[in-house]
Amino acid sequence: HKEKLEFVKNHIDSYPDFPKPGILFRDLFSVLRNPRAFHALQDVMIEHVSSQLTPKPEVIVALDSRGFLLGPLLALHFHIPFIPIRKRGKLPGDVTRVSFALEYGTDIFEIQSLSLGSGQNVLIVDDLLATGGSLNAACQLVNQLQATVLECLVIMELVYLKGRDNVKAPVHSLIQF
Ligand code: PRP
Ligand code: HPA
Repeated sequence: HKEKLEFVKNHIDSYPDFPKPGILFRDLFSVLRNPRAFHALQDVMIEHVSSQLTPKPEVIVALDSRGFLLGPLLALHFHIPFIPIRKRGKLPGDVTRVSFALEYGTDIFEIQSLSLGSGQNVLIVDDLLATGGSLNAACQLVNQLQATVLECLVIMELVYLKGRDNVKAPVHSLIQF
């Protein structure tokens, strides 16, 4: 597990001043570009859920857009549903929405209202925790559908931003910067 995590971490490229001056951007796609690193990442995600998470999730919920590359790996492995949270206006049918603060202005996340059942145990997956605004909004959506967030699982956590303090559910990160 430790060696695999180190292998994944070594494949995360960092870009200074992207997308804005002063931001050091951590790029998930440099991991996905390397099949061995992507496989190691899948293994550590599955190992975490198998050995460290109880009770077991009944549903995987992932965030638009990079969460969509990760959540399905778990949903297929554990034979449980994959449910997307998308930015406004992208999901058909009856949707439940939440608005949340960004650095400038607000954004809206939506989930299909029929996608979660009351009392279901949910694992939320995303690539990265920065301020925690996105994950906290995702938790609110899950709770609005009367489901329970077991945990928010992220690959990377920008620890110095203290984003986990803004998320009401437990947060687990595989790699810390
Ligand atoms: C990034 C990242 C997380 C979120 C984390 O997504 O993939 O979802 O920001 O930031 P926070 O903890 O401060 O909320 P982004 O909003 O860039 O969307 P994208 O995946 O569509 O590019
Ligand atoms: N990488 C990817 N997404 C992000 C980052 C980052 O460093 N910071 C905020 N969202």
